[in-house]
Amino acid sequence: MRTQVGIVGAGPAGLMLSHLLHLAGIRSIIVENRSRAYCEARVRAGLMEHWVSELLVEAGVGERMKREGMVHDGIFIAFNGQAHYLNFKKLIGKHVVIYDQKEVVTDLIARRLADGGEIHFEVADTSVHDFTTDRPKIRFRANGELNEIACDFIAGCDGFHGISRPSFPAGTLQGYDRVYPFGWLGILSESPPPEKELIYAYHEKGFALYSMRGPNLSRLYIQCAPDENIDEWPDARIWEQLHLRLGGVRKLTEGKILQKGVTPMRSYVTEPMQHGRLFIAGDAAHIVPPTGAKGMNLAMADVRVLARAFESFYRSRNSEPLANYSKTCLRRVWKGQRFSWWMTQMLHRFNYENDFDMKRQIAEIDYVTTSEVAAKSLAENYAGLPMG
Ligand code: PHB
Repeated sequence: MRTQVGIVGAGPAGLMLSHLLHLAGIRSIIVENRSRAYCEARVRAGLMEHWVSELLVEAGVGERMKREGMVHDGIFIAFNGQAHYLNFKKLIGKHVVIYDQKEVVTDLIARRLADGGEIHFEVADTSVHDFTTDRPKIRFRANGELNEIACDFIAGCDGFHGISRPSFPAGTLQGYDRVYPFGWLGILSESPPPEKELIYAYHEKGFALYSMRGPNLSRLYIQCAPDENIDEWPDARIWEQLHLRLGGVRKLTEGKILQKGVTPMRSYVTEPMQHGRLFIAGDAAHIVPPTGAKGMNLAMADVRVLARAFESFYRSRNSEPLANYSKTCLRRVWKGQRFSWWMTQMLHRFNYENDFDMKRQIAEIDYVTTSEVAAKSLAENYAGLPMG
């Protein structure tokens, strides 16, 4: 097999990259170790920054999102028994859109296939080779047979546990990370939303978040231990904690719990995001705690930069944007990291040695919910910093 850009991973990053390249007349092939059904069904956070929702529309893959996505003009931040509304639309003239990642993935797969795109699902033993030469290769096994894609470039969009990042030669990468002393226990519940937009709640028993997927589908999270055993959380205990942490500000209606799981909380950045002709994007290069809802957005920013850089290369043999890929992305990545860390440290309950930091946290929440200047800064970061 021969293509221009070989892509590892059919998540939002790999699929969007392949689609943007197609629009620019550049060929690509995607390999993915999961099945198409798995990729289309996995529930993940689904909050799009304003510009990402516009990118989907501009790229011609926003039709269903425009119909089914929920436009949110702001968020609520709750503490001391009161929910305060931060109106992004008024503060900065932007909104966000709730549309699950699996829907973005479903739409992009359908579109790639309709456009004649090549996606190999359920492959095994994927590996990347010769990316310090100008003839890199991706090898993989499909139906027991070995295959090879010869390409000009490789894009590793295969997530935090993928093979791309570990394929960088020893000593070429520097990792920066922060592990938090808690996780999120998330549920999907067949119950109507208690509020039309999200509620981030600070509570002495721990953080809670109310989000949604539809008029009778709620997505709720509570702060838990990082190694929480889900078996110790029968439905009744989950609802008890949700009522405790969110019930003071909105009345929650209980419903059938359709799914539950624990999300680890970690901040991680690897530098650089490129070695030779291997480029990594999205979670393969960086992960954020979900409090800032930045995961998919940073991935989309990376692939937009990468798609444009490939375009410069193929259109005018200008390889400077490719050479600058890592530097360009990392500026935004670090701002996304800063914001995600900041939201996380502000809203969660820590076991501080004394109460100074707890009082400081509350003062910070009080500040962002009462100062227009502070609220604007939160809104600007949450709804998405301008794309350069
Ligand atoms: C979600 O709807 O899953 C969600 C929303 C906002 C977050 C995290 C998760 O910050």
